[in-house]
Amino acid sequence: MPLFFNALEAAAHRLSLVPPMFDYFGALGLHTLLAAARMGVFDALRERPSTGGELAAALQLDPRSTDMLLRALAGLGYLRARRGRYGLTRASRLWFVTGSPTSLVAGLEFWERTAFVIWPRLEKAVRDGAPATSFYALLEGDPDLSRSFQAWTAALARQQAPAAARAIPLPRGARRVLDVGGGHGEFSVELLRRHPRLHATVMDLPQALEAAAGHPRLTARAGSFLDDDLGEGYDVVLLFNIVHGLDDQDAAALLRRVAAALNPGGTIVVGEQFGDSVMPGRSSRTLLRLLDLNYLATAGGRVRDFREVSHLLRAAGFRRPRHRRPLRAVPTELAIALRNP
Ligand SMILES: C[S@@+](CC[C@H](N)C(=O)[O-])C[C@H]1O[C@@H](n2cnc3c(N)ncnc32)[C@H](O)[C@@H]1O
Repeated sequence: MPLFFNALEAAAHRLSLVPPMFDYFGALGLHTLLAAARMGVFDALRERPSTGGELAAALQLDPRSTDMLLRALAGLGYLRARRGRYGLTRASRLWFVTGSPTSLVAGLEFWERTAFVIWPRLEKAVRDGAPATSFYALLEGDPDLSRSFQAWTAALARQQAPAAARAIPLPRGARRVLDVGGGHGEFSVELLRRHPRLHATVMDLPQALEAAAGHPRLTARAGSFLDDDLGEGYDVVLLFNIVHGLDDQDAAALLRRVAAALNPGGTIVVGEQFGDSVMPGRSSRTLLRLLDLNYLATAGGRVRDFREVSHLLRAAGFRRPRHRRPLRAVPTELAIALRNP
């Protein structure tokens, strides 16, 4: 919910002059976006900025209610009003228009179900110190939800991958990449685009590979990175948004197996959000703390500091972990290390 308090609002909040409405109504903000995207509001406004009445007529909606919806979306920063007409902002053009490569529309169901089915189990997760549901088991039994999750992660990856791939130094003569839990394959595809002699294998659970990106030098391999053989002889192993979904024991075991799958001197790339190096600001820090709870509730994982990931990497047989923060891929920070000879 891109709301920014001015000084007066922040003071009112701090002094508890207002009830905690922003937290309650954050949920309504999500529903507002979901309703607008599903009814085609953003797609229609991409065609041309419109008044509430014009949009209501085009989409067969109630005119007065449409005005209310448009005003709320403008308040949230997803529309801009000019001379009575509403148009898209950069954010809605990027994320909520159906045809955009980074469109999150196909992933809306994932957030709806997460927010209203999975997050309510947070209380149990905090009591038990473990997730109440196995998120990936849930996806396995629900193909629609799984597709929606993959669509969401693929859209984000399409936006993040170019900058992330630019920041990855490959070992000289590198030929083979393993993308662990690579799902949609977008991070691998971007590396393949940049390096014409590379071949990539994306390893993931069968349901995740259904919609994997196609590329002549990309192979999809169904399997569990926790239980199945990872293979060997790789020059580079990618772990994008994987380690934060694992507890310390599973994370350490996976990194040791990745070290065994890599050639000596090969490169491991862990890409995710690190707790100790966010954008400055209380909102970003708070978002990370909420992400922590999200990983706890969904997978039993957590957000780790770069320092902690670095420690896990050294213990698993890697040296010289370096921290990269590609400027155009803010939530994807990289820990890059080399396998010991
Ligand atoms: C958060 S997504 C990240 C996908 C992709 N790497 C990215 O960053 O966009 C986690 C991925 O790990 C996969 N995954 C989870 N548990 C797995 C397991 N035991 N074996 C293989 N893949 C698994 C999921 O199916 C999913 O595609």
